[in-house]
Amino acid sequence: MAQGFFITGTDTGIGKTWSTLALMQYYQNQGKTVLGMKPIASGCEWQEGQLKNEDALLIHEQASIELPYQAVNPYAFELAVSPHIAAAESGVEIELAHIVDQYRNLAKMADVVLVEGVGGWLVPLNEFDVVADLAKQLALPVIVVVGVRLGCINQAKLTFDAIEQAGCKCYGWIASCVEKDMQKLDENIATISKATPVPLLAIFPFLETMDQKMLAKKITK
Ligand SMILES: Nc1ncnc2c1ncn2[C@@H]1O[C@H](COP(=O)(O)OP(=O)(O)O)[C@@H](O)[C@H]1O
Ligand SMILES: [Mg+2]
Repeated sequence: MAQGFFITGTDTGIGKTWSTLALMQYYQNQGKTVLGMKPIASGCEWQEGQLKNEDALLIHEQASIELPYQAVNPYAFELAVSPHIAAAESGVEIELAHIVDQYRNLAKMADVVLVEGVGGWLVPLNEFDVVADLAKQLALPVIVVVGVRLGCINQAKLTFDAIEQAGCKCYGWIASCVEKDMQKLDENIATISKATPVPLLAIFPFLETMDQKMLAKKITK
């Protein structure tokens, strides 16, 4: 079985996908076969008769083995709204057991599988489950991507606490510098580092365009 990781973050739009791609590249640089999953994506467009999501397509493309799109992204919704609302709108119920099955299939094929969550840690997926429940059922160590911007210290601490409360293991965190000229950037990262025993895996600098090869080199653990 593959080594697996679950990627969550402090919010939506803070660098989970870029971090997932960089981590995939990092393990590929070590000669490993790497697959990625974006099990639930809201905000999809029709392409060749299928709903497809931009993040999931990037993860699909970065994979070491060519997979059908649906293996990477089993739940694709057109509306860019919270997944439980997007799913209800499409008349679909997100079933965690289905995602776990799909994950296990991928885990048989590769050395490493990275699973990108959706939104933050407590985003609802259906009437009962939130992202934390998915991470728990997958039983994967969690990597937290912190979008470094004003407010992120609080968001990071809340996320680390909630992961611990859920009984999940936090493998590490990534400082994702999503703002061009963030004031007191280093101080923010240092404050979060001090507040948690979870290791800092990488600081991803602000980039005008995505470059996973460059970001992969920033991963130190
Ligand atoms: N290191 C970075 N430097 C500059 N912009 C970034 C960086 N990481 C993310 N972004 C910006 O944030 C957007 C959302 O990133 P993404 O990885 O898709 O976030 P998420 O998966 O958390 O929604 C990107 O399209 C990009 O504009
Ligand atoms: Mg994403």
